[in-house]
Amino acid sequence: MRVALLGSGRGSNAEAVLRAQAEGRLGQAKVVGIYCDNPTAKMLELGPRFGVPAQFLDTGSFKTKFSPEREQAWAEALIAARVDLVVLAGFMRVIKAPLLEAFAGRMINLHPSLLPAFPGLDAIGQAWTAGVNESGCTVHWVNADIDGGAHLGQSRVGRESGDTLETFSQKIHAAEHALLPAVIAQLSQSLSR
Ligand code: GAR
Repeated sequence: MRVALLGSGRGSNAEAVLRAQAEGRLGQAKVVGIYCDNPTAKMLELGPRFGVPAQFLDTGSFKTKFSPEREQAWAEALIAARVDLVVLAGFMRVIKAPLLEAFAGRMINLHPSLLPAFPGLDAIGQAWTAGVNESGCTVHWVNADIDGGAHLGQSRVGRESGDTLETFSQKIHAAEHALLPAVIAQLSQSLSR
């Protein structure tokens, strides 16, 4: 199963996936490319470190979506790389046709909350402000509804009395780093050619 990792920033989840691959924990999955919508994303540094092609691809002039021509170009790049599964690992941009259509049923997203609670931006901050006793993370299929596709896996993280927003965030990120590679490995058993 040929995997593309799409992201916009730090890339700690992409790194967790690449580490799992290096340690033989990614099943039949193989990361074949890293694609960023931000030319200064730290995530791009993972390419040379893990020996995977990493590139910035332009998305046009919008902030939270693609221009139609650029979305077509991303779809073509991923098709040309013979990608089987697109993994949104901190990709902060809404995906629609034609990219979504090209990878319908083959695109997953990681989100830092127990969906359907706290979709959208700053999910950890939203949960913290709401005073929840627990939050966590979700990996789900991507469909046209933002953070709305069927769930593939969730991890729960309790909010302890001594937690600050920072420690709570760290625990959720650690849960994400375990969940995303595990879901990819599991999918590789069912989606591999
Ligand atoms: C992760 O917490 C991920 O769940 C979140 O962005 C962070 C990226 O961190 N994604 C979303 O909020 C998508 N709506 P990373 O760049 O270190 O992997």
